[in-house]
Amino acid sequence: MSFFTALTTRTFSNSARMAAAIKNVTVIGSGLMGAGIAQVAAQTGHTVTMVDIDKAAVDKAEKRIAGSIQRVAKKKFSSDEGEATKFISEALGRLNISTDPVASVGSADLVVEAIVENIGVKQKLFKELDQAAPEHTIFASNTSSLPIGKIAEVTNRKDRFGGLHFFNPVPVMKLLEIIRIPETSNATFEAMKEWGKNMGKVSIQCKDTPGFVVNHLLVPYLFEAMAMVERGDAFKEDIDIAMKLGTGYPMGPLELSDYVGLDTLKFIGDGWMRDYPEQSMYRYPKILAKLVEEGKMGVKSGQGFYNHNKE
Ligand code: 3HC
Repeated sequence: MSFFTALTTRTFSNSARMAAAIKNVTVIGSGLMGAGIAQVAAQTGHTVTMVDIDKAAVDKAEKRIAGSIQRVAKKKFSSDEGEATKFISEALGRLNISTDPVASVGSADLVVEAIVENIGVKQKLFKELDQAAPEHTIFASNTSSLPIGKIAEVTNRKDRFGGLHFFNPVPVMKLLEIIRIPETSNATFEAMKEWGKNMGKVSIQCKDTPGFVVNHLLVPYLFEAMAMVERGDAFKEDIDIAMKLGTGYPMGPLELSDYVGLDTLKFIGDGWMRDYPEQSMYRYPKILAKLVEEGKMGVKSGQGFYNHNKE
């Protein structure tokens, strides 16, 4: 066998091995996104460890998953209650819980991080995990807007690092954005792609650019809808009706902003305004900062543009 053949054969088999190897998944963070990713991974046959240092957050996530998986099972096995119950108990049986990130990556093939959107906190976590995880483990961040390359730079596995960006609600939204940094190897990319497929998602790839594809287009649109409310151009209800009935979106932009979380959107905007001050499309109107300052984060706090408190 020539050197070249040996090399390509090895590269291919490495790629194939890694692509087939993602069985054990560790999800760090048990917020909306972390819990959703862990749930879908467990539903699709992976052994999952969902980790959060905050025990109360894990308890809340377990309740959310229990409710969500019921809805998935009801839809999937609408005419067979026995199959639905089996699906739920098997999926939940594959889902483990931990409050110790470092102890949870020992047998992970893939680690997906979905913790607070703070670059320093993410870097500290990945630096520790890099020491603890096996050589083959792929690391990924589900960040909405932070540069993947910046998070990866503290590790010694940039070739086994990428972005895996899911959408809320994870059990329902079909898309997975896979973000490659220049160092992401083909084998890593192929493994992430294969895993996305096994998770039942349709994946697209994107470079490590601000907001990747979806948030780059979506977030400025949400900001402009808020600006319309602030200027008094139209009522919020009318803006939402307009975009639902005029363009077929499932939610209007102000409903969707409340759903995503106004604090999350402000956080994304703050980062972009700091890093790209010349880009006017990344600026948000004062009304967003005001609502967040008042504790009005949207659905999660019960109040945002709309009141979500059930009577
Ligand atoms: N878990 C499981 N299934 C769920 C679910 C959940 N959390 N939420 C909804 N579903 C499923 C259920 O099967 C439900 O059927 P069921 O009523 O029989 O249980 C079905 O979806 C329909 O749900 P609903 O009747 O509650 O409501 P809708 O028909 O209005 O759908 C929606 C809800 C799917 C959220 C829809 O309004 C939608 O697609 N909205 C847009 C969401 C969106 O754009 N997400 C992306 C946000 S951007 C993002 O996440 C990126 C981040 O980085 C910021």
